[in-house]
Amino acid sequence: MVGAALLLQLTLWIVTVHAFYPWPERVCHSSQCSGSKSERDINGDSRQTERTTSTTEGISVELVQRARNPNNDPSVTVARDTNRDAAIRFAHIHSPLEGSRPRDEDTKLTRRENTYSVVAPVTPTATKSAGIFQDGADYSYFLQVKYGTDEETLYMLLDTGAGNTWVMGPTCKSKACEMHNSFGPGDSTTLKQTETDFSIIYGTGNVAGVLANDTVSIAGLKTVMSFGIANETTSDFEHFPFDGILGLGMSKGATDNFLELAKKEGILTSSIFSVSLGRASDWINTGQITFGGVDTAKYVGDITYSSIPKEANDDWAVPMGEPSYDGKKAGLPSLLGYIDTGSSFVFGPSSNVTAFHKLITGAVSKDNNTSFEVPCDTKTPVTFSFGGVTYSVPSQDWVAEVGENRCESNIIGHEAMEGAWLLGDVFLKNVYTVFDGDHISDRCPYGTSGGGRR
Ligand SMILES: *[C@@H]1O[C@H](CO)[C@@H](O)[C@H](O)[C@H]1NC(C)=O
Ligand SMILES: *[C@@H]1O[C@H](CO)[C@@H](O)[C@H](O)[C@H]1NC(C)=O
Ligand SMILES: *[C@@H]1O[C@H](CO)[C@@H](O)[C@H](O)[C@H]1NC(C)=O
Ligand SMILES: *[C@@H]1O[C@H](CO)[C@@H](O)[C@H](O)[C@H]1NC(C)=O
Ligand SMILES: *[C@@H]1O[C@H](CO)[C@@H](O)[C@H](O)[C@H]1NC(C)=O
Repeated sequence: MVGAALLLQLTLWIVTVHAFYPWPERVCHSSQCSGSKSERDINGDSRQTERTTSTTEGISVELVQRARNPNNDPSVTVARDTNRDAAIRFAHIHSPLEGSRPRDEDTKLTRRENTYSVVAPVTPTATKSAGIFQDGADYSYFLQVKYGTDEETLYMLLDTGAGNTWVMGPTCKSKACEMHNSFGPGDSTTLKQTETDFSIIYGTGNVAGVLANDTVSIAGLKTVMSFGIANETTSDFEHFPFDGILGLGMSKGATDNFLELAKKEGILTSSIFSVSLGRASDWINTGQITFGGVDTAKYVGDITYSSIPKEANDDWAVPMGEPSYDGKKAGLPSLLGYIDTGSSFVFGPSSNVTAFHKLITGAVSKDNNTSFEVPCDTKTPVTFSFGGVTYSVPSQDWVAEVGENRCESNIIGHEAMEGAWLLGDVFLKNVYTVFDGDHISDRCPYGTSGGGRR
């Protein structure tokens, strides 16, 4: 019951604030932007300039319908046999890594006790891969990343919506920081803190601190990279287990981009990573990220390429066909769809989302066309299409129970990205997504690889 009550609370909270959807709205020095969303840039470095000088041609996001039934997925079958006892872990934990490493009694920086629930993933068998943890409610997906000489292990939100990486620091006294683990000078002899401030404003939540660099190890891939050490956060981060955010967006932020760095240093031969996300209600968490390629065991059918157009401005975004319901469409225009593992739900312009919900019998909005109540017995999937291929999202993912006999659609009428859709975990749970930052002009262009997957 306690668990149910907590989830319900989270649901309500999420809906009220339109979910946690980090995206790179603004990056700047705290002295320059001091929380104002209207100010721009870092170091006078115009984002606009970065956008116009960068070539996004040939970069693509690839989507493949994920195997629906875990029993048909060879990797899962193997995993089930070898991980029968440890496959699902849903527990309240004190410190997720308690006992893994002795601490000096006299260390001046204390490690926080962490009491969040997490669902641990099956250990991947594919190389350069890491399991993706989640919070048990499909709201946030994160990796274990090791920092510094002590290999301090933190949960890092997997964020394809932004290029910035930061961790909660030991000097941060916000309640969110107090509730999480941290990384700072007491945890590593190689950590280099700079005098440079950073400040990031996400869709929900702000964070500020100083830039630093140190060794970072992700999926066994080790490099030295810069990242922020936060000394201030807003309360938004109290609601999720992660201790920081790992930016896997392509846009250049205040910090190094892990993918770009790994490619430059030859740790990876291609700037590709592939993601499958687990669903809490499934019996096993098979969430996994693979760097440098794809895990062929994770998908069925072909991979359909969709090129990232120039107007995506260095974000992972591809042209999207209009969503459909029960074979019906509302006659909406094709808009860009931002692919964001760091967002829980699906967002679209209120006008489009309103028109779409008119296709659903009984759907009604009580908050000016932002969220929509739908009948709880709605069982029809919603489909989204990319490159002419349709991907289905079942009702268990897009219809959320938010109260007794009260259900809401997880497709929200809120323009998280101007004039575009933003597809978060509600959609991504249903596809295997390949984020391909390399030029792929020699491969099948958008829409022509043929062969529909369901
Ligand atoms: C956090 O760091 C910034 C930049 O160094 C500083 O301006 C601010 O006062 C610090 N805040 C707290 C709460 O320590
Ligand atoms: C890390 O900091 C050192 C010392 O300030 C600097 O020489 C090095 O270039 C930095 N590395 C990265 C990846 O930022
Ligand atoms: C859908 O949204 C786009 C972008 O905001 C807008 O131009 C268009 O008029 C909308 N169409 C409908 C039918 O709501
Ligand atoms: C809906 O919009 C009206 C007019 O802008 C406003 O007065 C009202 O508070 C809004 N209602 C909700 C639930 O946001
Ligand atoms: C909500 O959508 C309906 C149907 O399109 C429209 O008539 C109404 O004016 C909208 N309400 C608001 C507050 O935008």
